[in-house]
Amino acid sequence: MEKIMNTNYRSVNENSSVFDAVKIMNENRLYGLIVKDNEGKDVGLISERSIIKRFIPRNKKPDEVQIKYVMRKPIPKVPSSYDVRDAAAYLSENGLERCAVVDSTGKVVGIITLTDLSRYLSRASIVDVLLSHRTKDYKHLCPKCGVGVLVPVYDQKGEIKVFRCSNPACDYEE
Ligand SMILES: [Fe+2]
Repeated sequence: MEKIMNTNYRSVNENSSVFDAVKIMNENRLYGLIVKDNEGKDVGLISERSIIKRFIPRNKKPDEVQIKYVMRKPIPKVPSSYDVRDAAAYLSENGLERCAVVDSTGKVVGIITLTDLSRYLSRASIVDVLLSHRTKDYKHLCPKCGVGVLVPVYDQKGEIKVFRCSNPACDYEE
């Protein structure tokens, strides 16, 4: 995994705007960034796909929405000790195209993508991964109760108003 992952990743603060994140992505030709909180802890991952799924449907300006409402959280990750097949299985089972790679202390040491992995997989396993990941979606766990999943609530125009926790006993919205 050390050989395949991208160790030259960039990070961004969770309170920055989507506009700031896209600027960093474009300047560095990256399609995903690690997101950190104010204490410097790795809290999420923002990617072109999370921008499509959780930002565009809100119909807001890119400098009006903070990354923490758009990023994938908890941060999708695999240990650096995983082999290529394990990492590909993790991505495919969670409907992801990329995730963080962490060392034995839990620190992010790189980002791995399906494209990176596909160079090291057999043709048969690439087909498995590509076919399966299109049928699944990454689940955003509720940060309050940790049980429910955040689901979009739409208004009449079809814009996402908020994401609400699916746990009936929890009132979390964002
Ligand atoms: Fe919840």
